[in-house]
Amino acid sequence: MPSLKIAIQKSGRLNEKSVELLKNCGLSFENYKSSLISSVANFPLEILFLRDDDIPEYVQDGIADLGIVGENVINETGVDVHYLQRLGFGKCTLKIAVPNDSVFAHVKDLEGKAIATSYPVILKKFLDDNQVNATIRTISGSVEISPGLGLSDAICDIVSTGGTLRSNGLKPFADVLSSEAILIGKNGIGNHAIVKELLQRIQSVLKAKE
Ligand code: PRP
Ligand code: ZN
Ligand code: MG
Repeated sequence: MPSLKIAIQKSGRLNEKSVELLKNCGLSFENYKSSLISSVANFPLEILFLRDDDIPEYVQDGIADLGIVGENVINETGVDVHYLQRLGFGKCTLKIAVPNDSVFAHVKDLEGKAIATSYPVILKKFLDDNQVNATIRTISGSVEISPGLGLSDAICDIVSTGGTLRSNGLKPFADVLSSEAILIGKNGIGNHAIVKELLQRIQSVLKAKE
């Protein structure tokens, strides 16, 4: 059988747990070192190690058949993919955060302010839903340092343990979206025999963890 391709994060919050899940499914492969593609020795699957932000589009375009990625990234890219399975790890919340000494009390207090984020699409929708006009400054990383640099009044970024916020003198202000890792597939792939087999294995691994 020709193999399918699954895209996972090459480094970052979801990498380790994604690899662990696939290994617990009995798949034998080398984790990412320098090669961005790894063949599974005992299952018709190849693993692509990518930046998480790129995974939804790779799956939508069919470059990868499957992907493991955070819901936050899927929502931001607005892609048309299938949710095959919620994976129960990588839980986090996209939050607006403000400097510890800030006096903002309500979402409305963000009116006319500047908010730095890597999630402009999700943030725009949240602000519109709350009828707040604010300037969105899109930056691709290290968002947490922008209030200290005078670049923004607030940020909107992923909070998991809260450690990054604390070490940058920021406090959570409003929850925008909660997220966890999801197994996604390109349209129509759900009926593929390899996908069915992999899903069955994933579901028994998840069940054993309950
Ligand atoms: C998020 C966020 C922070 C960190 C917060 O990054 O941008 O850097 O996690 O985690 P903490 O609350 O536990 O300190 P993410 O893992 O989504 O990676 P990326 O921004 O590099 O894609
Ligand atoms: Zn990312
Ligand atoms: Mg980050």
